[in-house]
Amino acid sequence: MIFESHAHYDDEVFDGDREALLSSLQERGIGTVINIGASLSGSEASVRLAEQYPFIYAAVGVHPSEIGELDEESFVRLHTLCDHEKVIAVGETGLDYHYPEPDKALQKKWFEKQLLLARETGLPVIIHSREAAKDTLDMMKALDAGKIGGVVHCFSYGKEMAREYLNMDFYFGIGGVITFPNAKKLKEAVEYIPMEKILLETDSPYLAPQSHRGERNSSLNLSYVVEAIAELKGISCEEVERVTEENARRLFQLTVQPD
Ligand code: NI
Repeated sequence: MIFESHAHYDDEVFDGDREALLSSLQERGIGTVINIGASLSGSEASVRLAEQYPFIYAAVGVHPSEIGELDEESFVRLHTLCDHEKVIAVGETGLDYHYPEPDKALQKKWFEKQLLLARETGLPVIIHSREAAKDTLDMMKALDAGKIGGVVHCFSYGKEMAREYLNMDFYFGIGGVITFPNAKKLKEAVEYIPMEKILLETDSPYLAPQSHRGERNSSLNLSYVVEAIAELKGISCEEVERVTEENARRLFQLTVQPD
């Protein structure tokens, strides 16, 4: 079944029907979901969802746009959450230079601390990198991120950058953007990246695929992403689902199938 490696079901846009939607996912082909913390409260909420649903796991971290809320005390809380049995990664964390704030130095400080947290706890890391290719890569190299392992979520750079991350043995989160007509660079990168390094993700509620663009996204739309990857790779949709699930289970060390 489909392994959804990146969703934010704690987002308030799901408040009206979260329970109904999540309860229906497994019978609609979504076998496993990782709910990703983007803030401290989002990380706490991710853990609560993971406690509530056997097929949901949690990642805890603070998105570069949200790091203004972090201080030494709240960071300790993040560290504590990593010990929870259903927390399987640190993230999302990284650098986002799309907006001028928060300033770059501050983003780097908390990215470094979260990379070190992943290393210390032995968890893989979920990277968010937007318009910050060089700095992200430089920091990851400096901190020997290849030994930490993880995934570059919503990979949006080209083939050259893909090669750099492959050298660190990282995985690539591919989502709805692959269905956009103007995603030429990403399509080239996906053709280049070995199938064994690709994970499926939506980033729900964001980044709905082309046929639902602008709408609230959910894991149910992963079928469009599967189709696009299958076409690029010249393999069947079943093969895409099977291999990406194996990849996710390998990376996040989830060997046992959920109930
Ligand atoms: Ni996200």
